[in-house]
Amino acid sequence: MTTRSTDATRFPRLPAGFTWGASTAAYQIEGAADEDGKGASVWDTFVRRPGAVRDGHTGDIACDHHHRFAEDVALMRRLGLDAYRFSISWPRVLPTGAGKVEPRGLDFYDRLVDALLDAGIEPTPTLFHWDLPQALEDEGGWLSRGTAHRFAEYAAVVAERLGDRVKRWITLNEPFVHMSFGYAFGVHAPGRALMLDALPVAHHQLLGHGLATAALRAAVPDARILIANNCTPVRLRPDARQDEDVAAASAYDALHNGIFNDPLFTGSYPDLTAYGMADRSWGGVVRDGDLATISAPLDGLGVNYYNPTWVTAPADPAAGLPFDLAEPTEPYERTAFDWPVVPDGLTELLTGLKDRYGEALPPVWITENGCSQPAGLHDRARIDYLAEHISAVADAVSLGVDVRGYFTWSLLDNFEWAEGYHQRFGLVEVDFATQRRTPRASFAWYRDLIASQRS
Ligand code: BGC
Repeated sequence: MTTRSTDATRFPRLPAGFTWGASTAAYQIEGAADEDGKGASVWDTFVRRPGAVRDGHTGDIACDHHHRFAEDVALMRRLGLDAYRFSISWPRVLPTGAGKVEPRGLDFYDRLVDALLDAGIEPTPTLFHWDLPQALEDEGGWLSRGTAHRFAEYAAVVAERLGDRVKRWITLNEPFVHMSFGYAFGVHAPGRALMLDALPVAHHQLLGHGLATAALRAAVPDARILIANNCTPVRLRPDARQDEDVAAASAYDALHNGIFNDPLFTGSYPDLTAYGMADRSWGGVVRDGDLATISAPLDGLGVNYYNPTWVTAPADPAAGLPFDLAEPTEPYERTAFDWPVVPDGLTELLTGLKDRYGEALPPVWITENGCSQPAGLHDRARIDYLAEHISAVADAVSLGVDVRGYFTWSLLDNFEWAEGYHQRFGLVEVDFATQRRTPRASFAWYRDLIASQRS
């Protein structure tokens, strides 16, 4: 339960120059799924698989942002955002993932960037938020090393067009979630259920990140480059058994956090063999020189935080994973998604990153944080959630973590992946039948918070 004040004028003050933002992603909002020469992405394919998405929802229209971006930028201006994090649809720019560029795809992002700059909002694109061109998936997707090279070529194409105006770039969104949901469990596109044989997807995404970073730096010498990792503090339950449960938590931490952060900041992977997770294919995919490419210096780490993960030793060790995911025993408040609301997990996460990587940790931006709440405009629970989590960021800053910004997820209600339109994360309610946008109470609260932090 919160005891903190949500009154914007009595809120802890974040450092001068702190970036206030909001985030979205292309497939979740754009619609226009096959307009202007856009190619199919793995999500265009996956949503047509019977049973893949709740009620058969698709992102074909989504928030129709492709046609309504000017109205959406006007909403951002009303909020007073410093920056807007959106993603670029790879198949809009390169319909088959490589080779022929579709100029109309680039034109769309060109117009969006100009509209943002006119509104005084810094464009902060993510190059990959899960919508891989289907043509590349047909060649193995992120299981194939070639995809990392195609990603760097795509980054160069986009940077060439936008780099005169776009200076802050995010390479990947949540490579852990894409590997696990998309390739290990098959609940997201491309819908493969490979379990630990999905591990090469981690390495190839990170290699793609490293190669794309080099391509961005070559095209945009003053670029500031981040990656957005989904990070979770791993917790034990009060009745944890010291040996088995602690070992399970370490294994989960290596898989969720370690694999994706260690190579960036230490130039090495955690030892998965120690947890019995190194699989047949992992050893062969990491080639000489890859870790040097991946660990090239970054200007920031993007952290996406939703909640901690509770872990116990596996009930059935023969089932293949050295941990079981568990429910917390504490009676946390829950979001509409039934995710526990644990703001101090964000402080724990941020201080934990600093403890683990020390001077090697670059400045941090929270690139996603927010919650699904029931439809309706009076979203008091979302205001509480945001207030508590932004306070948790302020706590981390006071403990010495260099956090430079906060982007809430999300500006608009949107296509929430396998949940379709059933989960609403927006500061702005979207009526998907009419595309009418209506700001919620949380919109006014965030606007006032940003204004009072500036005053
Ligand atoms: C993703 C978003 C998603 C949000 C809420 C993050 O994992 O980057 O695309 O909508 O969580 O589930």
